[in-house]
Order: sequence, then structure tokens, then C-alpha cells
Amino acid sequence: MNAVVFYSNTGQSKAIATYFANQLGYPLADMEIKCAEYYQNLVLVFPVHCQNIPDIVKSFLKNISVENLTVVATYGKMCCGNVLYGIQKNYQKNIVAGAYIPTKHSYIDNDDAFCDLDELKPIVEKVKEPSYIQLPRLYKNPLADIFPKLRSRIGLAIQKSENCNGCNLCAERCSFGAIKSGTTNRKCIRCLKCVEACPRQALKIKLGMPLKLYLRKKKSNKIIIYV
Ligand SMILES: Cc1cc2nc3c(=O)[nH]c(=O)nc-3n(C[C@H](O)[C@H](O)[C@H](O)COP(=O)(O)O)c2cc1C
Repeated sequence: MNAVVFYSNTGQSKAIATYFANQLGYPLADMEIKCAEYYQNLVLVFPVHCQNIPDIVKSFLKNISVENLTVVATYGKMCCGNVLYGIQKNYQKNIVAGAYIPTKHSYIDNDDAFCDLDELKPIVEKVKEPSYIQLPRLYKNPLADIFPKLRSRIGLAIQKSENCNGCNLCAERCSFGAIKSGTTNRKCIRCLKCVEACPRQALKIKLGMPLKLYLRKKKSNKIIIYV
């Protein structure tokens, strides 16, 4: 089968995935809900987390068989790491196209959205006429692999306000069992799916000083495409 599969917490990757699904006429599937195990043509869209591939995406990649894979990583204009190369090296060799797309950063309120979608047309064309490519290795900060999840956990707190009416939608949406009635536990990876899901905006984020300073660094608006 052909499909566009996405993993998305704050909607950026989902918006890009929807674009590809519409352009290609492929069904759109949420990785966290239900996906097939075999694909002829698959476009996979997911966010970079701490310059790495999110664990849930790694598990998905381990369990599928795919003939022609297109990999699209969204990133919050800080650093995209080397995740696409990592996919080809460690999980799936049959890659026909790839892209790093700068988007709104999950942790920055007034950040702007993503690129002009027309820039993604070469990828659509390559999916339609696939041939394999070798992805280059990019620079990745050597510190990125040092306790990435712990860094997010220390850098950011999710706080419940009095708006919370205990509906527990946050717990329903969380794939990790990391929140109950608005209170997070140690399993939380700070992906902010719960914050996004709350209909009463009862969950707020509080950034620690080191993360605040890091997010003030110069941003990269570079879209990188491999076809
Ligand atoms: C836990 C976490 C870690 C992140 N790490 C990075 C990063 O290393 N570099 C970067 O540029 N953006 C980073 N971001 C920002 C996201 O990659 C970016 O906002 C992405 O488009 C969010 O996609 P989504 O809305 O589909 O979840 C991170 C976001 C989260 C939640």
C-alpha cells in the first residue's frame, strides 16, 4: 500500500504530512493510532527531538517493511541533528527522498510556522518517480546524545492551572502514560501533546533559564531537500 504516516504532537508535522497526502492522493495515518506494516511507497513525517529520532518513530521503523521510503523531519529552527542519515544507516536503506523542514518550535509561543509548501514539490515528484539515494551525514552536536530526554525534563515544567476540570483528555492523548488529571510523571518527554490537547488551556509550560537562553540562539530557516 501507499501512505503518508506522521508522528506529531503540536501539529507541525501533521500539517506537512497533510500536504504530501493531498498532493500524492495517499491516505494519511497517525503513527500513534494505527499503521500498516508493509508499504510500497511511504512518506514518513516526524519532528526532531533533541537532535534525535523520537523513540516512537524508531519503533515504527523497526517494524515495517518498505520498498520506497521518503523521510521528512520537521525541526524548530535550532538544529536538525543528523536524523535522516541515522534512519538510512540504522533502520531503512530504501530511501528515495528526504527533507529537513524548519517549523514553529514547540517551546516558542510566537514562533512563525513553516516554509512555503511549494518548495516541497520536488519531493512530491520524486515520490511519483522513485529511485534510491544516499543521504549525506550532517553535523550533529556531540552533546546531543547525552541524556536527551533528561535535558528536556529538566529544562521545562508542565503546570496545571485552576482551569483544569479533571476531564483527563490529556491522559487519553498521551502515548506514554505520562500524565494523569493534569499532573505529569517521570515518563513525560515534554512533547506537549497534552498542552495542545487541553480544551480549557489549563496546562502551561514553564521554561528553565538554560533552555530559555538556548532558545534565544540564532535560528536556522534552512529547508534542506534530498531527491
Ligand atoms: C522534546 C522536544 C525536543 C525538540 N528538539 C529539537 C531540536 O533538537 N532541534 C530543533 O530544531 N527543534 C526541536 N524541537 C522542536 C520540534 O522539532 C519542532 O517544533 C517540530 O516541528 C514539532 O513538530 P510537531 O508539532 O509535529 O510535534 C523539539 C521539540 C520537542 C517537543
